Amino acid sequence: MILVTGGAGFIGANFVLDWLARNDEPVLNVDKLTYAGNLGNLSTLDGDARHLFVHADICDNEAMAALLAQHRPRAIVHFAAESHVDRSIHGPAEFIRTNVNGTFSLLEAARQYWGALGAADKAAFRFLHVSTDEVYGSLGPNDPPFTETTPYAPNSPYSASKAGSDHLVRAYHHTYGMPVLTTNCSNNYGPYHFPEKLIPLMITNALAGKALPVYGDGQQVRDWLYVGDHCAAIRRVLEAGRTGEVYNVGGWNEKANLDVVHTLCDLLDALSPRADGGSYRTQIAYVTDRPGHDRRYAIDARKIERELGWKPAETFETGLRKTVQWYLSHQEWVANIQSGAYLKWMESNYGQRLAQSALA
Ligand code: NAD
Ligand code: TYD
Repeated sequence: MILVTGGAGFIGANFVLDWLARNDEPVLNVDKLTYAGNLGNLSTLDGDARHLFVHADICDNEAMAALLAQHRPRAIVHFAAESHVDRSIHGPAEFIRTNVNGTFSLLEAARQYWGALGAADKAAFRFLHVSTDEVYGSLGPNDPPFTETTPYAPNSPYSASKAGSDHLVRAYHHTYGMPVLTTNCSNNYGPYHFPEKLIPLMITNALAGKALPVYGDGQQVRDWLYVGDHCAAIRRVLEAGRTGEVYNVGGWNEKANLDVVHTLCDLLDALSPRADGGSYRTQIAYVTDRPGHDRRYAIDARKIERELGWKPAETFETGLRKTVQWYLSHQEWVANIQSGAYLKWMESNYGQRLAQSALA
């Protein structure tokens, strides 16, 4: 079996669902179920013996060691993290705890387990660390995209904590010879994306008749990748990646935020027109920028294509249409998430921003 951490979150749940749709190798899914973890994402696996869920914190080293000893996985795919930049600005401590200390705790448990394996299992074992392009910092408009050798320059508490975890993973290979793999991926979108992030927030706010809060001038650029393509890249790296190597994963899809929001509004106008016949674009509100906001991310994904033959299957147009259709047909999933805790976050992040934009 494989052990997945954070498999109740956005990418982890997509990964677990895709994995079990493709083969019968069981998944041990370890998740703390923070606000971002949702077992509803995995409800189609209810009663499926190939999926074993364990409610645990990766910071709990003893629990991680016990799980490894009991289930003896051949690989760990590590997604668990605090993942939202805005939340890291409001409260960085949890990001350091889970992303840095948690990864350390998991690495230590893995080192102990891996070190005691027989020679063949030891050679075959993999620790795949799922990371982000944000560790490379921000690009100027004419800079080439990030490669695997771009120096680290994280700018937010989120990206700094992910950078810290990447360095620990690297060190465990260099020092102990642990067979690790790291993927640094660009912004994902798709089903089960928590509606605090740009794309699902815009879709859900638009449908609820709420403002669409664009930070600053909306000209920040992200390189968007459909989540299913990210999962395929991770499977490929796990299968054939060279240990100790880093693979950048991206969609070759650079878009300015405002263009993304416009495209979403146009898709919604076509697929779920407003009752008053107006365009969702009229709901756009320019709000105070995010502090330290990175201007541009872009990934050079040639290494993973050259060495492992992976490239994205979805274009932005096909992936975004699928995503909007998924949200339109899963409004109950959205409603379930929009609990008291979610409303509190919306008020603390957007209350003042929107009040200021209304005054402007
Ligand atoms: P997410 O926030 O949707 O999910 C994170 C999951 O981790 C949740 O299920 C949560 O309950 C769990 N978790 C958090 N703290 C934990 C802890 N201490 N112990 C156990 N479980 C814990 O995040 P996501 O968007 O699915 O991202 C998954 C991974 O991919 C992260 O490591 C993130 O840095 C990375 N990544 C994300 C993106 C993106 O666009 N979302 C892009 C590149 C890389
Ligand atoms: P986000 O989805 O939070 O991902 P990240 O910050 O990790 O790239 O944000 C994507 C982009 O959208 C980013 O430039 C910030 C911007 N953004 C807004 O303009 N408004 C919003 O309400 C949110 C959540 C993000």
